Amino acid sequence: MPQTAQVATRIGDVIPKDQPIIVVIDGPAGTGKSTVAHAVAKRLGLDVLDTGAMYRAATAIVIDHDIDLDDTDAIVAKVADADLHFDWNRDPPAILAWLKPLNERIRSEDVSAIVSRISAIGPLRAHMVRKQRLIAQQHPRLVSEGRDQGSVVFPNATVKFYLDADPNVRAQRRVDQLAGAGVVVSAEDMLQRILERDHLDSTRSDGPLVCPDDATILDTTEMEFDGVVETLVRLVNAHV
Ligand code: DC
Repeated sequence: MPQTAQVATRIGDVIPKDQPIIVVIDGPAGTGKSTVAHAVAKRLGLDVLDTGAMYRAATAIVIDHDIDLDDTDAIVAKVADADLHFDWNRDPPAILAWLKPLNERIRSEDVSAIVSRISAIGPLRAHMVRKQRLIAQQHPRLVSEGRDQGSVVFPNATVKFYLDADPNVRAQRRVDQLAGAGVVVSAEDMLQRILERDHLDSTRSDGPLVCPDDATILDTTEMEFDGVVETLVRLVNAHV
């Protein structure tokens, strides 16, 4: 699924300004959710919420403050103190902790390695769910992507999507993405990591990765990026 960097807003696609709308996109790692969510939001004239960035930011905080991974109370207290929020004046919005942007830090390998473990902490998820709902109150025209957006955070979302793809293809996409950033990882290693993350994300007791019954499922294995965006934009417009 090659990705297009620039997506223009098209007048006919934009959701009327007075219309609140929550579009959720859930799915496992490497399905292109994040890039698709940004492109769809741009086409529809909506804000975009990357909830994975919030769990990644929490993980970076845990690592950088040397907090014991089993010390749930300390983790939740430190993350709450960081007052995670987004700078909506940037495109894409930058995640801030203690008012400092964390965007590059949260994509590092050490963060990716343990983010699934940190995001399985129930009280941390409860904190994030509250924050995400507050963000939606302040940005009521939103495309929100993650793992639990349609199942837990916004069960009454206007439109729900679940993106999936063959794990080998997802692994190769991640390898290509990292190669673009100068990081070399083998496809076999990446496949193992992806399968491990899928397992952790879908078997945790709080907010596991699930496909909501009322979501439209899109298998992006053989789809081009533009085709995925086009399909989502068309389906959202058909709903409103
Ligand atoms: O989408 P991503 O790879 O940036 O997500 C990073 C991790 O955060 C992923 O392992 C699962 C977790 N996550 C989550 O548990 N719930 C969400 N709503 C979003 C992400």
